[in-house]
Amino acid sequence: MNLKDYIASIPNYPVEGVTFRDISPLMGDGDAYREATKQIVDYAKEKKVDMVVGPEARGFIIGCPVAYELGIGFAPARKKGKLPRETIEVDYGLEYGSDILTLHKDAIKPGQRVLICDDLLATGGTIEATIELIEKLGGIVVGCAFLIELMDLNGRAKIEGYDILRLMEF
Ligand code: PRP
Ligand code: ADE
Repeated sequence: MNLKDYIASIPNYPVEGVTFRDISPLMGDGDAYREATKQIVDYAKEKKVDMVVGPEARGFIIGCPVAYELGIGFAPARKKGKLPRETIEVDYGLEYGSDILTLHKDAIKPGQRVLICDDLLATGGTIEATIELIEKLGGIVVGCAFLIELMDLNGRAKIEGYDILRLMEF
């Protein structure tokens, strides 16, 4: 199975000049969704992960089935104003805009080995912010798993030294 066959490319969305890589067809196909999840689960097993973190919103779609399959917990990194208890927060930039990402203060215990899951690595702003949140809580980021890496934007330069798994490149 070629997972790339399940990614839709939409020119000039959400703004002129950006090609949006849409994972909905992949999620919409049971076999493709299961295959992508399995590849990330195999990677997580090698890394001996204790906890999965996914940034809102598409990081939930990728990270939750991985955590469920591993039998470990999932913590959502959410945009400001969405988490009801005490949080820590970080500002970050995106391919189109900027935002504030937050994590509950008790989401990660010091020393836990954390895998971050997201659909896509673009400028790297989101993953950099997510790493910062986890490390502020004393977590150890042992890997970052993405379905897609956008090569032109060189997001991986922002997270040099961290291990990356990506299933597809565009
Ligand atoms: C998208 C995507 C990644 C991020 C990648 O999320 O799901 O999280 O952008 O871009 P970056 O590498 O430049 O940070 P977005 O913030 O659009 O939110 P959504 O998942 O709620 O659509
Ligand atoms: N998030 C940031 N850039 C994106 C893109 N080009 N396609 C889909 N999601 C994105």
